[in-house]
This record gives sequence, structure tokens and C-alpha cells, in this order.
Amino acid sequence: MTNHPAITVEQIRQSLNAVPRIRWSHIPTPLEDWTKLAERLGGPRILVKRDDATGLAYGGNKSRHFEFEMAHVLEGGFDTLININNFHSNQARVAAAGCVKAGIRYLLVSTGEVDRPIQGNLLLVKLMGGEIHRIPESEDASAYARSLADKVRSEGRNPYILNDDSFPEIMGTIAFIEAGLELKEQLDAIGVDRVHLWGLTGRSLPALKMFSNNLGLDWSATAVKYSPSDDEALRETMVARSRQAAELLKLPVTLEPDDVEILDGFSGPAYAAATDAAFEAIHLVAQTEAVILDPNYTGKSMSGLIDQIRNGRFGKDDTIMFLHSGGLPQVFAFNEELAAWDG
Ligand SMILES: Cc1ncc(COP(=O)(O)O)c(C=O)c1O
Repeated sequence: MTNHPAITVEQIRQSLNAVPRIRWSHIPTPLEDWTKLAERLGGPRILVKRDDATGLAYGGNKSRHFEFEMAHVLEGGFDTLININNFHSNQARVAAAGCVKAGIRYLLVSTGEVDRPIQGNLLLVKLMGGEIHRIPESEDASAYARSLADKVRSEGRNPYILNDDSFPEIMGTIAFIEAGLELKEQLDAIGVDRVHLWGLTGRSLPALKMFSNNLGLDWSATAVKYSPSDDEALRETMVARSRQAAELLKLPVTLEPDDVEILDGFSGPAYAAATDAAFEAIHLVAQTEAVILDPNYTGKSMSGLIDQIRNGRFGKDDTIMFLHSGGLPQVFAFNEELAAWDG
């Protein structure tokens, strides 16, 4: 049921407009009605926010995040960005794209899977001129980044280590408060006021729920886990980020620990582990809607949704709002497994 709004849309918009930012994303992203997938599953209506289509170097949710992050880096007077992230990381790719847009140098400490060929996101980092340092998971990545920063300083430049700053933690929340404004407008236009948001743990999906809390909207939410991790810690992080973002944007309402259901069982045994259910979800969506999901994030989120629909949790009167948060390049890092998969 819709409750009384604690703040107006215009006030939220004004707060967002006050945050420094460089604009490059193709937004608003489309909201699509996936009738063929819904028909195949025989369950609820499935609306999809196409944030894979944000435009920057194969898109994804992080194109929005980095509009705020790169403005923050430039304001700090930095000319080199150093970032530590996993071989599979979409963030590592969009950070590279952000550095190209901002005109600064990018050094990536890429962790894990050092023997795997340069493919997917890592290949795109290379194309965009990022300097890639591959180190095994066992090596101390922070110490490695610090030594890179010392070297950069000795060349008379001013490095920023992204992982040492707290701002990147909240930029994803800020960006998806804005995506919430877009989504509300799009849902209003088609006369839908009650949705169940579906996506992944992290910043984007919880931020949509936080946005709806501020306006008293009838939006419930599920976040599927993409790696095995402790639920309590996930909840605490989610609430802490919402508080920081609320402070920055002067929003009256934050997230409560139980506002977003956390759904386990679809990540596989480790981050970026291939799962049969995600591979099935990728094929099913590609063959019903001609849209590509990814094996590490959106394929897993969709596999959770398919499971819940098949188990009868959602019926024809329900409306799911699935967040397609991107991740496309890693399809190509799983080329052999996906090519061999036949259900
Ligand atoms: C494609 C994709 N979706 C979702 C997430 C979840 O995290 P967040 O919402 O904080 O970006 C990630 C994180 O890297 C991601 O790459």
C-alpha cells in the first residue's frame, strides 16, 4: 500500500543536482515488458529496467555510479586512478572508461585467475588504455597498489587509490536514487504502482528500495546473493550505505535491515563460479527476449527469479521489476562453458 511521502520528487531531484557529476550515461534507460519470458514461465508480469543499456563501454549500472565518482576524483585534483579488483570485475572496466572520459591515467591491479587469457572486461580495460597489473589472490593487493602509488608520485603525478576512499561506497546508492526517479516516472506512465524489485545484493537494488521508502511507494524488494557471504554483514553494509547516502542527499528515510529480502542459493560455491541455473537463465532470456544476461551477476539474479516463479511464489497478479544491471562482457570469458552448455 502506498504511504504518505516523507519528501517530494522535486526535493530529491534538487539534492541530486547538487552532487558534482560528469554526465555520459544514456539515461533514462528503457523499461521493457518481457511478455514472452513471462508467458514461457507462466507467472507474473516481468518489467525490466535495462541498465545494461547505459551506453558507456558496454554499459551497466556502474556507468551511472562513475559519473559521480569521476567528478569526485577530479575535484580532489588527482590525475591517476589506481583500482584493485577481480579478473571478472565490471567495475574495473567502467573505471577505465571513466578515466578515459575524465582524461586521467588508469592503473588496474587485477586479482585472481592470472593464467586466464585477457578476455571480457579485462580486454576492454586494455583497449581503453588501462595499465593492467595481474597478481594472484594470495598476493597483498593493497601493498601492491601502495607501491604503484609511490612510483606514480615519484613521477610527479597525484594518484588516487579508489579502494582507500569511502565515497565509492555511496556513489552507487546516490546513482540509483536517481534511477528510482526514472523508474517511478516510467511506472506512472504505464499505470503500475505496486512492484516487487528484483536484483542483486550491493548498492543499486537496495537504493531503489530506499528511494521508494522516501516516497512511501508500494515497492518490495529481493536481492539475490552473487557470492557466498554472511547475510548479517550484508544487511549491516546496506543499512550503513543508506545512512551515508541519506546524509549526503538530505533524505529523511533510510533502509531498515529487513527492507530487502536477501536470497541465497544461486551464487554457486564462490564468486564468479559457473552455475547451471545461471546458464539456463542466460539461454532462456536470450531465446525469449533477445537480451543477453551475464554469468556472474544478472544470470544469477534471473536464475533466482525463475526458481521462485517455478515454485509458485509469484502469480499472474504480481509485477516483478527486474533490474538488468549489465555485466555483458563476461559472457565472453565463459565462451567455452557457454558454447558447450546444452541444458
Ligand atoms: C553487473 C552487476 N550487477 C550488480 C552488481 C552488484 O553491486 P552494485 O549494485 O553495488 O553495483 C555488480 C557489482 O559489481 C555488477 O557488476
